[in-house]
Amino acid sequence: MRDRSIIITGGGSGIGRAAALLCAERGARVAIVDHAGDRASAVAEEARLHGAPAALGVACDVRVEAEVAAAFDAAAAALGSARGLFCSAGIDMGGMAHELEQVVWDRVLDTNLRGVYLCCKHALRRFLADDQGGAIVCTSSVMACGSIPGGSTAYSVSKAGILALVRSLAVDYARYGVRVNAILPGATETPLMWANVASGDVAQAREIINLEVPLGRLATPDEPAQAAVWLLSDEASYVTGSHLVCDGGVLARLALSA
Ligand SMILES: NC(=O)c1ccc[n+]([C@@H]2O[C@H](COP(=O)([O-])OP(=O)(O)OC[C@H]3O[C@@H](n4cnc5c(N)ncnc54)[C@H](O)[C@@H]3O)[C@@H](O)[C@H]2O)c1
Repeated sequence: MRDRSIIITGGGSGIGRAAALLCAERGARVAIVDHAGDRASAVAEEARLHGAPAALGVACDVRVEAEVAAAFDAAAAALGSARGLFCSAGIDMGGMAHELEQVVWDRVLDTNLRGVYLCCKHALRRFLADDQGGAIVCTSSVMACGSIPGGSTAYSVSKAGILALVRSLAVDYARYGVRVNAILPGATETPLMWANVASGDVAQAREIINLEVPLGRLATPDEPAQAAVWLLSDEASYVTGSHLVCDGGVLARLALSA
């Protein structure tokens, strides 16, 4: 990864931030793209302190194609042609299907699925123009493969869509030397994890999850980030179209018995 330029969406927080710092430690140049521009800039500064030869924070809403194109242009101008993209930007807004406002459905799908597609599209254009190949990692979720009660419909649909997107892009762009993979994090200790839990209930919810995860705890943001950084790296040179689960054993566990 040394001196390679990597774009990380949602890099202002959580898993994206952790991946940015891991890439920085490996000597990559990193562009942190986040609609919270102040956090993007702060993580770019952290990345420099972690060893990135150059880093840039860019404010961008991944739902808006013109903003994605401008952010990727800014990254190329400051850091050189990108060789990697990690799509981590995402939101989780819940609600039972019969009560869900269409505006919530649209917001979740626009951010988590259209946003990922737009970022892939603009990264692919640059990879093809540079003719050097590239690697893309998109962030799905265990919620793409299983459901928990409580109204995660829109989120689950958005994350399942990412798996189909990844398979499709992997097949279409393999001939251009572009690899496309997904990570499926399980419960990971970030602001998004608790977005739909009242602050007074977080401690109890964490205890319940710890009991239910086979490895006995939530992931730290570094853990799914390590999986993403491996998929971005040449160590994964023969891996494309894959869905890498990083969930402490949750999907492997049947929930019908104690
Ligand atoms: N935390 C978990 O338990 C968990 C589990 C499975 C999957 N995920 C996925 O991991 C990814 C990262 O989530 P996280 O847990 O690090 O959450 P987080 O809230 O810490 O980080 C998400 C980042 O995305 C940014 N973002 C949101 N909407 C955006 C937009 N429209 N444009 C640009 N940036 C935007 C936010 O500003 C934030 O910095 C998400 O796609 C999430 O769905 C998280």
